[in-house]
Amino acid sequence: MGDLTMDFLRLMLMAAMLLTSLQGQAAESATHPAAAPAMHDVEFLRSADKACTDCHKEQTDGMHGKHAKATNPNNLAPVTCTNCHGLPSPQHREGVKDVMRFSDSFNKAPGKEGYPIAEQNSVCMSCHEPKPLREALWAHDVHMTKLSCTSCHQLHPAKEPMVGIPEKSRVKLCVDCHSKQHATKAANQQASVSKEAP
Ligand code: HEC
Ligand code: HEC
Ligand code: HEC
Ligand code: HEC
Ligand code: HEC
Repeated sequence: MGDLTMDFLRLMLMAAMLLTSLQGQAAESATHPAAAPAMHDVEFLRSADKACTDCHKEQTDGMHGKHAKATNPNNLAPVTCTNCHGLPSPQHREGVKDVMRFSDSFNKAPGKEGYPIAEQNSVCMSCHEPKPLREALWAHDVHMTKLSCTSCHQLHPAKEPMVGIPEKSRVKLCVDCHSKQHATKAANQQASVSKEAP
């Protein structure tokens, strides 16, 4: 829906611009070279997220972290909402599965449908290469298919919780989650053992 509306608005604006510039040219062709359209092009790019932020007020300032000013390596355009969330239909408001929802795959929020880890992470990996990830943290590789990226990362807030944390806190991060994981595993094993028992 968003894209169609945007395309339509874009068309209308271009038609209006063309008309104004034609009228302008007719009236004072000598004084006004065609400089205006370039300025409007910049405005179109800046408002690429408006179709979403009209409703999602808390995201009105867009992203607060690094992605706010990031360039999409695939098309060299600014990163937009739809690069990560896809192009949702109006029905996404009722939870229809066409808007990408990111979640903590380890500490699942109750009642929230989790999207498969592979599906979530493939969105991130459409821009992020494995090599720099490995260099930043070797443990990226071992979790690639086991955890969603957003089990550790948070992209909307200004402060990305993972980047620049002291070594000690990083180790605590690993230990905390892994001891929880072992506790859950042990509990599950015990449950299945007692089920098998006659
Ligand atoms: C007409 C209003 C409206 C528009 C336009 C709109 N949304 Fe939504 N969106 C909603 C509502 C209502 C919900 C469901 C309530 C909620 O979960 O926050 C929702 C839910 C979502 C969610 C899931 C939120 C969650 O908590 O899981 C995401 C992500 C999202 N929208 C992204 C987008 C993106 C990206 C766009 C632009 C392409 C967009 N929306 C356009 C109203 C809108
Ligand atoms: C459309 C391309 C694109 C997508 C999709 C994308 N990223 Fe990024 N991301 C970037 C770019 C480009 C940067 C570098 C920004 C900079 O350094 O200025 C970045 C930076 C980051 C950073 C560093 C942030 C910081 O504060 O230093 C993290 C962490 C990150 N991305 C995680 C993710 C995760 C997790 C996902 C999936 C949920 C994701 N990214 C999806 C393009 C993308
Ligand atoms: C187990 C937790 C964890 C998971 C899961 C995880 N990361 Fe990270 N990530 C980190 C930590 C910790 C750092 C910070 C390394 C540093 O700068 O000290 C980091 C750094 C990054 C950076 C910044 C790299 C740079 O050059 O500074 C990017 C980008 C990133 N992660 C993307 C991802 C993506 C994409 C995924 C999912 C495929 C992912 N991460 C999954 C913990 C995680
Ligand atoms: C680089 C990828 C990326 C981009 C770009 C992005 N989002 Fe998100 N979005 C996420 C992730 C990941 C989450 C899960 C929470 C988090 O990490 O902050 C999320 C969560 C959300 C939610 C759910 C509310 C919540 O706090 O859990 C909404 C709504 C949303 N985004 C809307 C938007 C809108 C609107 C835009 C454009 C202004 C946008 N997003 C741009 C990755 C992205
Ligand atoms: C949010 C939870 C979480 C965090 C944080 C986390 N891990 Fe993991 N880790 C997992 C899960 C889940 C697996 C998959 C285990 C399985 O397949 O049974 C895993 C697997 C691994 C593996 C592969 C071996 C194995 O046990 O299967 C290694 C090595 C590992 N993690 C190291 C780390 C390190 C180092 C850190 C800190 C940088 C870290 N982990 C942070 C949850 C986490």
